[in-house]
Amino acid sequence: MGKDVIIALDFDTREKTLAFLEQFTEEKPFVKIGMELYYAEGPAIVREIKARGHKIFLDLKLHDIPNTIKKAMAVLSGLEVDMLNLHAAGTKAMMEAAVEGVTRPDGSRPLLIAVTQLTSTSQERMERDLLIEGTLEHVVMHYARCAAEAGLAGVVCSPLEAGMVHEACGTDFVTVTPGVRFADGDVGDQVRVTTPARAKELGSDYIVVGRPITQAADPVGAYRKCAAEFIG
Ligand code: C5P
Repeated sequence: MGKDVIIALDFDTREKTLAFLEQFTEEKPFVKIGMELYYAEGPAIVREIKARGHKIFLDLKLHDIPNTIKKAMAVLSGLEVDMLNLHAAGTKAMMEAAVEGVTRPDGSRPLLIAVTQLTSTSQERMERDLLIEGTLEHVVMHYARCAAEAGLAGVVCSPLEAGMVHEACGTDFVTVTPGVRFADGDVGDQVRVTTPARAKELGSDYIVVGRPITQAADPVGAYRKCAAEFIG
């Protein structure tokens, strides 16, 4: 599985996004477009960034009835993105429909990744608000297994969970891991963080890095440092 650093383009306009990307004159980083940028600029921004030669993870976390998901996934897959995601909580039937929808007429498809429990959901809130019993870790691993059984390519998880996910679902099952910080960097609002080097040791396949690169005084230098530690 191709190890790579994915830069989270958490910007709210096309102008800010392109100004950021224009700093990269030598490499074409894999980038993540999330809800903020997609809802602000629509599919045009995806096409534009793709045309510039970047791989794209479209992070829209879909969750709806299977028929709607199948059709929505077909539309998003048609944007020629490289990675898409959905909520495993939508059930295996929804995930199977998504796999069908995401598969292009030529048989190719982007990597389809599941969100298990959001990292913002605590054990207490999961029990109280969602009425789900069991440990958070058990629930995350169960959702990961369901995603694998439904034919998904992997999950978004913490680097600290990557080893367990690979044990349960196989080494080819992709782990995409946010919560990465440089050893001497700002943690921000992330709680459980790991360095790019540690994420590599723990077996992450892709790390998603936002502010340590986008807010750096030298974003290209920060990206290169990240890639050298993680892939290097
Ligand atoms: O700036 P930072 O490196 O914290 O950005 C991490 C990115 O990964 C953000 O786009 C955030 O929404 C996303 N993400 C996360 N934790 C998750 C899922 C996604 O930080 N569990």
